[in-house]
Amino acid sequence: MERTFCIAPMLDWTDRHQRFLARLLTRRALLYTEMVNPAAVVLGDRREHLDYNPCEHPVALQLGGSDPDLMARAASMAEDWGYDEINMNVGCPSERGLSNRFGACLMAEPEVVAACVEAMIEAVSIPVTVKCRLGIDGQDSHEWLVGFVGRLVRAGCRTFVIHARHARLDGLSPRQNRSIPPLRYAEVHRLKRDHPELEIVLNGGLRTLEEARAHLAVVDGVMLGREAYVNPYLLARVDQKIFGEERPVLSRREILEAFFQYAELQIRRGVGLPVLARPLLGFYQGRPRSRVWRRHLSEGSLRPGAGIEVLREALEIAEGGPGTARHRAPD
Ligand SMILES: Cc1cc2nc3c(=O)[nH]c(=O)nc-3n(C[C@H](O)[C@H](O)[C@H](O)COP(=O)(O)O)c2cc1C
Repeated sequence: MERTFCIAPMLDWTDRHQRFLARLLTRRALLYTEMVNPAAVVLGDRREHLDYNPCEHPVALQLGGSDPDLMARAASMAEDWGYDEINMNVGCPSERGLSNRFGACLMAEPEVVAACVEAMIEAVSIPVTVKCRLGIDGQDSHEWLVGFVGRLVRAGCRTFVIHARHARLDGLSPRQNRSIPPLRYAEVHRLKRDHPELEIVLNGGLRTLEEARAHLAVVDGVMLGREAYVNPYLLARVDQKIFGEERPVLSRREILEAFFQYAELQIRRGVGLPVLARPLLGFYQGRPRSRVWRRHLSEGSLRPGAGIEVLREALEIAEGGPGTARHRAPD
């Protein structure tokens, strides 16, 4: 499967609506779900946790857990549901992760991660991959990383998404842990150079497609997180700039018109307007009318009885069309 350009799993952000939008913007990127608790998949409402739109393919489900049996059962259900890959979260540094044993704290327990990977590989025929950090407090030398990865390779994992900073589990919030530990891309590059047989996807701090391309000269893939969410229109050029496709780049309006059709259907099915408007907030990032666009979406979508017209008005405002006058007129 092609992992040249991936959009990161982000809790509360990469829900199925954001992923639908991402797929309108790029046909080639690999999309990741938010992290899902395997117990919720196995014991809870499967539809709620696993549903996605068929257009999202290729799409990977990320699981966060440490019980090999539960992870394997959830992975198997996800395969039946049609997912293209299962990714194990070994990078999230939250308090909840520490107390419930998922995420970055598992970097201290390579045997547990290996047992989960083995159990999942046994249970499914789709790829099982791991997303991790360079290390955790006190265990972040290159040798340590090579040992950690090596253990998972023996468990059968071949593909590693590496957030190029270590995680500090000594009190930094997850947000601080995404900016304070320094980015060390050279470590990820070295891992790939020393182990060309592994598939290595580099993640962390990438803001432009030019940066992404530069890393692709060394590693197999790149993964964008925050920038893909706060500036989604960046993704409109991925197929051309990363994959060399020659199709014309779609305009903001073209993408949004297509998303509005989808949103209209979702609203009829009972999805709230704010949920649908949220992944659009950054769509005009860096453009003169970005602020009014955001304001109209966030305030308008909360108005009682608000419907799809709020999104259409926002588009006209952002594009400087007829809606601008309507927007400025007193109610
Ligand atoms: C709001 C938010 C939620 C996140 N949730 C997850 C998650 O569920 N699983 C995961 O592996 N990483 C999660 N991450 C980390 C991202 O996947 C990514 O590794 C990190 O943001 C660094 O990449 P970036 O600098 O491109 O954003 C989250 C990040 C953000 C900003």
